[in-house]
Amino acid sequence: MYVYEEIIDGLKLTDIINMEHENVKYLPDIKISPNVIAVPDVVQACTDGDILIFVLPHQFVKETCEKMARAVKPEALGLSLIKGFVLTEGEGIQLVSSIIQDTLGIETAVLMGANLATEVASEMFCETTIACANEEHHEILSKLFQTPYFRVKVITNVSGVEACGALKNVVGIGAGIVDGLGFGDNTKAAVIRLGLMEMMKFTKIFLKSEDNSVFFESCGIADLVATCHGGRNRLLGEAVVKSMKDIRLLEKEILRGQSFQGPLIAKEIYGYLKERDMLEQFPLFVAIHRICTREVDPRNFIECLRDHPEHM
Ligand code: 13P
Repeated sequence: MYVYEEIIDGLKLTDIINMEHENVKYLPDIKISPNVIAVPDVVQACTDGDILIFVLPHQFVKETCEKMARAVKPEALGLSLIKGFVLTEGEGIQLVSSIIQDTLGIETAVLMGANLATEVASEMFCETTIACANEEHHEILSKLFQTPYFRVKVITNVSGVEACGALKNVVGIGAGIVDGLGFGDNTKAAVIRLGLMEMMKFTKIFLKSEDNSVFFESCGIADLVATCHGGRNRLLGEAVVKSMKDIRLLEKEILRGQSFQGPLIAKEIYGYLKERDMLEQFPLFVAIHRICTREVDPRNFIECLRDHPEHM
């Protein structure tokens, strides 16, 4: 397991993980199996790997893959758990799986679902969705991940699953704003539904995906509900209402080294929609971006939703 090296109380994080079998910084109080060895060198970690599992913030994927490129076997299979995507002017939407696939030249599948990390680590029952375009790999991927408490469904729609995983992070911030404002469950349910409608519309228009069944898998509605109740992005939404601090400062205070993916994705979506003169079609995504940048007061969030296209 490649681990970005950090010094914790004078000791290397990789040494702590290998001695204590615990990631004391990012997943404290959870024991990691002793056959998992933390390695600070990504090239060493991926050499000879048959299945490479990617779990890192989406903004670091490209540079990490570039380092790995010389060591990865061409027949290796990639699997991305990263819930984000990159929107580039001119190039449009770049899925994280395609960045991995293009940089390393390997086939890449994705795994997304209602999988809050601490709950999975505590072996609480949950479901997940794996998407792999090549059906020949479905059986091995299912066998590798399925356990009595982690139930897997394998499908082929990679871009649909990845879009769900990225877009729900933005809606999670909205759910937190509702909590911060002191509104109740009806309001939160409305934000979840409007968010789902915008997720479906965005996926249909920009990823040209007509397959709505993906929104009823664990990666769709289930992950959206989990994130809107227990996700880190929900915490951010709540904090944005209660404090006027910049979101980067809130990230440091709340996550102690982890990162909120929602604001980055909201910013990318905003730029993409603005370029196409489509901001008014996605009022929830737009309001969340503007609240995160402090352009809009969070107390005006509900006002931004009152004339949603869903109500016209
Ligand atoms: P957060 O990044 O908001 O914690 O999302 C958690 C998640 O993806 C659960 O499946």
